[in-house]
Amino acid sequence: MPTALVTGSSRGIGRGIAIGLGRLGWTVAVNYAGNRAAADECCALVAAAGGRAEAVQGDVSVAADRARLVAETARLGGGRIDLLVNNAGIAPTVRADILDAGEESFDRLIAVNLKGPYFLTQLVAKHMVAQEADGGSRGQIVTISSISAYTASVNRGDYCVAKAGLAMLTKVYAARLADHGIRVYEIRPGVIATDMTGPVKAKYDALIADGLTPIRRWGEPDDIARAVQAIARGDLPFSTGEVLNVDGGFHLHTL
Ligand SMILES: NC(=O)c1ccc[n+]([C@@H]2O[C@H](COP(=O)([O-])OP(=O)(O)OC[C@H]3O[C@@H](n4cnc5c(N)ncnc54)[C@H](OP(=O)(O)O)[C@@H]3O)[C@@H](O)[C@H]2O)c1
Repeated sequence: MPTALVTGSSRGIGRGIAIGLGRLGWTVAVNYAGNRAAADECCALVAAAGGRAEAVQGDVSVAADRARLVAETARLGGGRIDLLVNNAGIAPTVRADILDAGEESFDRLIAVNLKGPYFLTQLVAKHMVAQEADGGSRGQIVTISSISAYTASVNRGDYCVAKAGLAMLTKVYAARLADHGIRVYEIRPGVIATDMTGPVKAKYDALIADGLTPIRRWGEPDDIARAVQAIARGDLPFSTGEVLNVDGGFHLHTL
């Protein structure tokens, strides 16, 4: 069965994606940063869904950890890595106006949300290029960015800048890897119910009720998982560098 590395899959959207791949019978490397109990819980849920999973600790902002993540995933896959999902990400600890926000938060957000996936993609891409093609595909890469890739939030500019960078990550790797039979996608989630959005739940409850999104509900991790499942199944064979908005229609400009 195919094997995937899903970064930050102990909780939230990543966990939903891991379970979704489990439903397809995949083997999943469940990456976590510090929450081992949550990662173990996710592995049990992947197994219950019909897949196979192993928890792998690693901070995507640390080069040595990225190398270990790739090696552990390849070991799980008997040498193959069929799918990388760059999902791990953090929000700023404090939402500060861009006229006041400091470099420390910027450096951390860029390291985890942009530099980590950029160089993890490089490592996995090299691994995929060297592996045999399976049904014309050497592997696929999905990056979970955000509506913040193009939406200006003046109290978390660091997060938005990092997410905008992921949009270009997708384009440059898609262009570079197409000849090798590797397709690259970006998924832009809207407002999704996870620990990350817990602190701003009341604000978004009100905004959604007010019509923030044409589809008036919170997104769930499974909404993102279903988009990843379509990619994992190979259902977008003539698309690469493509953006999938999974946002309840947030990106529509309505009048
Ligand atoms: N929730 C939303 O509304 C929303 C919307 C758009 C985009 N996104 C993006 O979707 C992704 C997942 O968000 P979420 O809401 O599911 O977040 P979450 O509930 O806070 O979960 C974050 C996950 O990432 C892991 N993680 C954090 N830092 C890491 C690091 N340095 N290295 C490896 N793993 C790390 C955490 O592991 P531990 O359990 O070990 O801490 C956890 O599994 C993020 O990239 C986020 O920016 C979220």
